[in-house]
Amino acid sequence: MLMSGNANVLAVTTAILALYLCSISAEARDENPVFQPCADAKIQRRDGFTFGIAFSDRDSFFFNSTQLSPCDSRLPLANKGAQLAVFRPKVDEISLLTINTTTNFGPFTSGGLMVAFAGRKYAARSLPIFVGNSSYVVTSFTLVLEFQKGTLQNLYWKHDDCSSCSGKSNFVCLNNKDCAIKTSNCQGSGQASGSVDCSIGIQLAFSGTDKHYAVLNSWYEVSNLRQYSLYGLYSNLKDSLTSQYDKIF
Ligand SMILES: *[C@@H]1O[C@H](CO)[C@@H](O)[C@H](O)[C@H]1NC(C)=O
Ligand SMILES: *[C@@H]1O[C@H](CO)[C@@H](O)[C@H](O)[C@H]1NC(C)=O
Ligand SMILES: *[C@@H]1O[C@H](CO)[C@@H](O)[C@H](O)[C@H]1NC(C)=O
Repeated sequence: MLMSGNANVLAVTTAILALYLCSISAEARDENPVFQPCADAKIQRRDGFTFGIAFSDRDSFFFNSTQLSPCDSRLPLANKGAQLAVFRPKVDEISLLTINTTTNFGPFTSGGLMVAFAGRKYAARSLPIFVGNSSYVVTSFTLVLEFQKGTLQNLYWKHDDCSSCSGKSNFVCLNNKDCAIKTSNCQGSGQASGSVDCSIGIQLAFSGTDKHYAVLNSWYEVSNLRQYSLYGLYSNLKDSLTSQYDKIF
């Protein structure tokens, strides 16, 4: 469903994404009052932490040759029709985020790259990573959120060197680092008119220290799990979240 931007200067036209967030957790207290991805938060273990993922083309993440946070209004993301997903996982719990691409969101239609980001003064952002184009879609990612004394310092994508493609005939290995599936095999509209659910899964891991200097170690656990292993655990995806750029700035 496409929504037209309103008269707000910063309004953008963007599609609402259906997002599903789940984590292996018993409910624990979330004492982080910051719910905007473009604000600074100082977290402790078990808090919720809000961050965003923006989908667009490479140029729209750069200003004057420098990659800026998608929260920076100098970027032309709004005009480019960038799409945004916002998540609030629990810090230091292994989570699998999914973005359902079978209905109205195709990553390649919004430029094919994604950047994870959070914070304003401490504006952390990942490098842009390839999600898909009219030929291939990458469906499985691992994102590490690194904190120092509770403040997000860095977000980075971990590649798994295609080990998860082996033995899967539907997948090809792109550039020796990403398992991808042919876009023509995927469900969706336009170039994607096949039968495979090519929804994007993002496995999260946390590293560093929280505001009490407690060590975040879910990264250690994830690195010991084979990629894809979490997918089987989540047969019931729950909690949907939607967001739009014009609600954030
Ligand atoms: C772009 O970067 C160059 C070199 O760092 C700098 O001299 C120039 O002022 C920058 N332009 C803008 C509009 O920020
Ligand atoms: C995506 O949405 C479709 C239609 O609602 C559903 O059948 C499918 O199971 C969903 N995929 C995931 C991974 O949640
Ligand atoms: C899609 O991306 C792959 C991997 O980066 C690249 O090899 C291919 O040329 C791209 N196809 C199109 C149509 O841009």
